[in-house]
This record gives sequence, C-alpha cells and structure tokens, in this order.
Amino acid sequence: MSTMISSEEIRRRFLEFFRKREHTIIPSASLVPENDPSVLFNTAGMQPLVPYLLGEVHPGGARLVDSQKCVRTVDIDEIGDNTHATFFEMLGNWSLGDYFKKEAITWSFEFLTSTDEGLGLDPSRLYVSVFGGNTDAPKDEESYAIWKKLFEDAGVTGERIYFMTADAKGKEPNWWSAGDNGPCGPDSEMFYDITGTLTSGMTKEEYMSADDCQDVVEIWNDVFMEYLKKDGKVVAKLAKRNVDTGSGLERVTMVVQGKKNIFETDLLEPLVNLATTLTVDKRKQRIIADHMRTAIFLIADGVRPSNTDQGYVLRRLLRRAIIATEVNEITPDMVESIVRIVGKLYGTHYTNIVTEKNNIINVINSEATKFGHTLSQGLKEFEKHSHASISGKVAFDLFQTFGFPYEVTAEIAKERGISIDEKEYKTELIKHQDLSRQGSEQKFKGGLADTSEMSVKYHTATHLLHEALRQVLGEHVLQKGSNITPERLRFDFSHGEKMSDEQKTKVEKIINDIITEGLPVIREEVSYDEARARGAIGVFDAKYGDIVSIYTVGQSGKRGEAKLFSLEFCGGPHVKNTNELGKFKIAKEEACSAGVRRIKATLS
Ligand code: ALA
Repeated sequence: MSTMISSEEIRRRFLEFFRKREHTIIPSASLVPENDPSVLFNTAGMQPLVPYLLGEVHPGGARLVDSQKCVRTVDIDEIGDNTHATFFEMLGNWSLGDYFKKEAITWSFEFLTSTDEGLGLDPSRLYVSVFGGNTDAPKDEESYAIWKKLFEDAGVTGERIYFMTADAKGKEPNWWSAGDNGPCGPDSEMFYDITGTLTSGMTKEEYMSADDCQDVVEIWNDVFMEYLKKDGKVVAKLAKRNVDTGSGLERVTMVVQGKKNIFETDLLEPLVNLATTLTVDKRKQRIIADHMRTAIFLIADGVRPSNTDQGYVLRRLLRRAIIATEVNEITPDMVESIVRIVGKLYGTHYTNIVTEKNNIINVINSEATKFGHTLSQGLKEFEKHSHASISGKVAFDLFQTFGFPYEVTAEIAKERGISIDEKEYKTELIKHQDLSRQGSEQKFKGGLADTSEMSVKYHTATHLLHEALRQVLGEHVLQKGSNITPERLRFDFSHGEKMSDEQKTKVEKIINDIITEGLPVIREEVSYDEARARGAIGVFDAKYGDIVSIYTVGQSGKRGEAKLFSLEFCGGPHVKNTNELGKFKIAKEEACSAGVRRIKATLS
C-alpha cells in the first residue's frame, strides 16, 4: 500500500531509482549559497548547479541526483494553508548535456507510478502540462507525444495533457528560470488529483479550475534547459541541452500518504502535534511547526539572527513562531523537544541537525530571551498609540519592529474597543512585501545585470573608488555612469580636469588600504529620509518607494564617522568583506565629456 511509504523512504527510493540509472548521488548544498551573492537562500534544486548547467564539468559526471534543501520566504504569509512551507526539500535528477526529454519524462512517470521501484501512484490521477510555444521556442510537441504514449501504454484514457501558453499578463506557465539571468527552458509539470475522483480525464478548463482550487496539486517539474536568459530576455541556446527536474518532497509525500495537506505528512505532523500544546489555533500550530523547522535548518547551516539578510529572515521566523504561541513564549524545554524531533526526522540524511544540536538550542534560546524583552517594549508602544485608534502605519511598525502580527494587534485593539486602519496596514505590508520579495529572491535590481563573482567584486570596488575620489579630489565628485564586466570596471564622475599621477596613486592607496583592512560590506533597508540624513550618495531609484536599500563599507552609521568608509544607495549585490577584492589598479584616466572624467580600473 502506497500510504505506508514514509518520507524518508520516498527520498531513499528517489535517489536509488536514479542511481540505478547511472546518476551520481550528490549531497544537498548549504541553504546559504556559497558563490552567489544575488540570492539569500537556495530557492530551487538547480541553484547550486547553475555553473554546471552553463557548461562547467561536474566532478560527479553528466547524470546527478540529489535532494536539495531550499528556503523560500516569498510565501511566508501563506504558511498555514495546505501546501506552502518556508523550508522544503526538492528531489531532482539532472542531465548535464546527457539525456533529454524522452528519458526525463519516462523516468518521472515510472518513478511516480511503478509499485516496486517507485511510489505506486495511480496514473489515472495524473495530469500534465507542456509548453505551448512562443517566439522564443516552439510548441513542445515532442514532450506531448512522449506523455501520450506513456498514458496509452499504461491503459489510461481521457484528456490529461495540456499545452499551456502565456496568460494575459505575458507570464509563461511552462517556462522555468531562477531569475532574469541564467539557464532556462520550457518545462512539463505533473499534477496529481488529491480528491481521487478525477480519474477519467478533464477538459483544459476543468483542469485549470481544479488547479485553482487545489483539487490537483503540482508534484514534479521537468525543465528542459537549453536556453540562456539575460536581463529577462532569452538571448541564446546553451552549448548543451540539460534536464533540471524538481519534485517537492513535502508535496509528493502528501499525495503518497493520502493526505490533504503537507502538515499531516510524517515530515511535519510530529511538529504540529507538539505545537498543539502551545496554541489551540490550527493555523498557528502550522506556523510554529513550519517556522521552527526552517529556523533549525538555517542555524545548522551557520545562519545567526541579525537585522540583515539571512539573519533577518531567521529572526523573523523565530519571532513569528513565538508570537503564534498562546503565551508568547517557547520555553527552553520546548525548544529542546522541537530540536530533538527535527533531529529524529532529518538527522540521518542531514547530519548537521544532530551535530549542531547544542548550537541550535542555544541560538534559539538566546533569541527567544531577547525577543521577550522586545515584546514587552512593543506592548508599551502599543499602549502609547492606542488611545482611540491605531493607524495602519503604527500597526505595521508594531509588526515590523516588534514582531506583532497584524492579527495580534487587531485582537488587542478589539478587546479594548479601539479601531484600527486595516486598509492602510495592508498598503504598508504590500510595499514591504514587494521589497522583501526583491530582497530575498534576487535582492534589489538595478545594481548589476551580471552577478558573476568578478562582476560583484568590481561592483564593490566601484563604491570604494567613488569614495576615494571624493576624498582625494573633493566632494564635487559624483558618479555619472558606471559599467562593469568580469574583466574591469569603468566609472564616470564629475570632475573638471585631468588627474595627476600623484592623485591616482593616492586613490589607489586608499582603496588598497581599505581592501587590506578587510571592512565588512553591509546592506540595510531604511527609509529614504534616514538614508539621506545619514549622508548616502549615489544613484537613487525612486521606484522602490519610501524604503531604500543602502550599502555601507565599514561600520553601519553616518557619513563622516571614523569607522564608516562608504555609504551609497544601491541595489547590490556586493561582496561581504573588502578583503575579497584583490589588488586595485587604475588602468586609465581620461576625459569622457565636458566636466566628466572616466576611469578604467582592474582587480588582480
Ligand atoms: N527548477 C525547477 C523548479 O524549481 C525544477 O520547479
């Protein structure tokens, strides 16, 4: 019986199925990308493999299989529904210029439906979508034909394969890429009927409405990566045709175990059960289970609570989990139980959950204590603003600064007969969500189109150059233009005359000293007014609204303070520390246009 298969067994069978088909099993990469400053976390199985999808040779060969840990926070407000989680595992098999559509689709079908080697799912409950074609690539008749034959051979009838084309907004449902740059291609997605009643086929309209109301749930995606995207446009074919597949372990476990939501699977149910002692609210139990599991994985991968980047996400998760409890507290005993359960569920496959157990417990307990203080301050803040009504802005600040979810503020307000401006709160929230979406999935745009390691280094070097020029030539120096390639930086700035050799040497020395000193490069999200007050310079892009992204080199603070070297409006990405840059050298200084000079410089 398929309902008996545990999630651990599903993961094991998946790896084994593909190992038997000559795939090398590779371990999951850390949740924190090692060489990609453009994202905070791995959000898909393919992210750590991008260099290989672009052509580099993988030591494991041309066929790989793995289960990659992923964190996605864009859907954080959906947590508590049936299918969303901030942490999930993505099962994936990979062809790096080896097999293509025929094998990929056939193996997906076999793994899902075979009773001995696979999951034994009912093929008559399976529905698939394929790419319908656009100006970048033709309609995927090949995948359609492969699916058609597989269903026929399995004796499954009824309409169940659908060509999908762009929606009214131009979004392609069957085209996959991790962002605006990198490998991409058409895909074929597999959906499973969780009602058990939709076995005889559906028209496309029926299928789309079943998808909308989650009667069918996406369980796997085969991407045929043979194209390259730059700045959001498909610009070329890749040297090799690759396959990138992704099957969410939580979702696939849910359908295999015959559950209606991921929280009832063996991956999450023990945690939800524990959370029942913390709150009677079902949605909050799920939030606690989800957020604590993600926090534990993040801490095991080295993330610590802070106010920026990965650390901020961790802090938010822990706070949201704590506030979801009835008494706003998760005691050290409870923390220990949760960590023990996650260790039991995952320790065999992800050993650092066990080896890092003590660190995990300490980090959570110390953050919980800190939050306890913040929370009482937040309550005081609430008292201050709550005479007759609470504005949406105050409700949002309570959420943002003190970790008070809107429901909590609204609840206290209701108890006291105070009105609250929910509409304004939502406006603030949407503004923030747009920012954190950019923040967590691809940081802010507008900085760098090419986020290769060298380009990112040159980007940081540009900030150092901007500041050094102002110190040597004067405050009239401002950036007029910038262009970065992996080979050099080009920087145009306002200045009326040729620089002397002495000035150039001075600029180089200032920059190289900062590089040697190893100053941190810190990103912060602050209000535009605060950024201005702190003396941020650089190109400010108004489209981000009131909240802006700034980068400081040295300690966070105000321009003019001794420990702060540079402070600019910027979308990033940047290196984490100036000591990553190497030696800076001005290759050329020349006139660009009236009153504007141009520098070309290299790092070596
Ligand atoms: N990269 C594909 C996805 O994440 C498989 O859906």
